[in-house]
Amino acid sequence: MQITAVDGLGAEITGVDIKNLSDAEFRTIQEAFAEHGVIFFRGQDTSEDDHIAFAERFGDININRFFAAHPDYPQIALVAKEADQKDNIGGGWHTDHSYDHEPALGSVLVARELPQSGGDTMFASMYKAYETLPDALKEKVEGRSALHSGKHIFGEGPDSYYNTSDAGSHDDGTNRIGNSDAAEKLTDPEHPIVIKHPLSGKKALYVNPAFTREVVGMDKVESDELLSDLFTHVFTGHGFHHRFKWEPGSIAMWDNRSTWHWALNDYQGQRRIMHRITIEGCPLEA
Ligand code: SIN
Repeated sequence: MQITAVDGLGAEITGVDIKNLSDAEFRTIQEAFAEHGVIFFRGQDTSEDDHIAFAERFGDININRFFAAHPDYPQIALVAKEADQKDNIGGGWHTDHSYDHEPALGSVLVARELPQSGGDTMFASMYKAYETLPDALKEKVEGRSALHSGKHIFGEGPDSYYNTSDAGSHDDGTNRIGNSDAAEKLTDPEHPIVIKHPLSGKKALYVNPAFTREVVGMDKVESDELLSDLFTHVFTGHGFHHRFKWEPGSIAMWDNRSTWHWALNDYQGQRRIMHRITIEGCPLEA
């Protein structure tokens, strides 16, 4: 097995078949995952059962509450966009499940049907985002927490993504995002803005533009300004971004605590079907 770091963040792992990993090989993959934040495999021939078995080696599977499930495998969430749909899932920088009290460890995404061109996924390193944060911003976030929520995305509000995009499941049969009732019942958690990563022990910046709503204990103007400065730092941190080009047989597995990702929506008129399994995480500490 070879582990090769790629530009920006992440590592490509070659010379393995994820269906047949010895315990020693699996441990090496786990270590690479903790160190690099995102790992990539190419040319894997995996069934849905293989995908589930690989993900289960990392922990319990989180059954997605908002995305349509694979008709035969509830553990697999469909990240799907049909040719006649305009909006995609994950089409902006985010990390999955920060709206949960115990945010997911990570997700394993398998390409099932790809557009002829486009549909790459961007990743950003939140380890490097923290390391390169200017001292003045480090001081501002020291000891602070932020409030996260998924209601404005998955909930009933008139401006929610569920209601304003064609990804929402209304009466037109698209059925990609649903269960807005469950979103309304979420109790919004607070997480430290700088976490000690549960696997690596390294510091990572833990806010994201999709789900982080406000800095606790600041007035709205001050909070909006600080979050905007933090997000801009990551948006413009091209040295710690990686653009992953999918091929048939590609798999990406990212750590939700140390990375952001963004599914580019630049393939209008074409279909893109991905299978995602998300793994349960733990509470986050500073
Ligand atoms: C996601 O945000 O989970 C989707 C990523 C992708 O489709 O590339």
